Amino acid sequence: MLASGAGTNLQALLDSGIEGIRVVISDVADAFAVRRATEASIPTEIVPFANNRSAFTEKICEAAAKYGAEALVLAGFMRVLGPAAIERFPHRILNIHPSLLPAFPGVNAVSQALSHGVTITGVTVHFVDEKIDHGPIIAQRAVPVLPGDDEESLHARIQKVEHDLYPRVVAAFLRGDVLVEQGKVVLR
Ligand code: GAR
Repeated sequence: MLASGAGTNLQALLDSGIEGIRVVISDVADAFAVRRATEASIPTEIVPFANNRSAFTEKICEAAAKYGAEALVLAGFMRVLGPAAIERFPHRILNIHPSLLPAFPGVNAVSQALSHGVTITGVTVHFVDEKIDHGPIIAQRAVPVLPGDDEESLHARIQKVEHDLYPRVVAAFLRGDVLVEQGKVVLR
């Protein structure tokens, strides 16, 4: 599991009882996600980003390999992994993003949705490929934008959905029920 921030999605995954989370890797030593992992007795590894994506990717892969990880689950991980990770874990890197991709990729998906004035945004869980917030879509859920929403209120509504959706998708993936055929996801 890879996380950079508050780790509420990590917490939702832990609380869902999913088994097999071998390690939580973070690029941010004092991320609250790291504390959540420690409290749940999950080993942690800190891999700071040092301005070189391929070296960073290599270190992430090494940290994952040390614990025998067979997949990477990104839960608020705010760094982009290089191609070496995608080659090492083909269709085995999952990401959650707070918009209905392909709309609003990047770091500020919620404020992008507000500034475009969309009335519906949402959550996407997808396999990671070489591009940012891109790759075969596994599951999406819509979230309404309400009059008077600001970034905080909309993100909070989106996160409620994330916390329900991500554990379900990760569990299905771990059961082997999420397949990719001709570039698209097929659910068993
Ligand atoms: C989540 O809303 C997640 O979708 C988003 O960061 C937040 C992390 O929250 N991820 C991205 O924007 C990835 N491009 P958390 O640390 O509380 O799980």
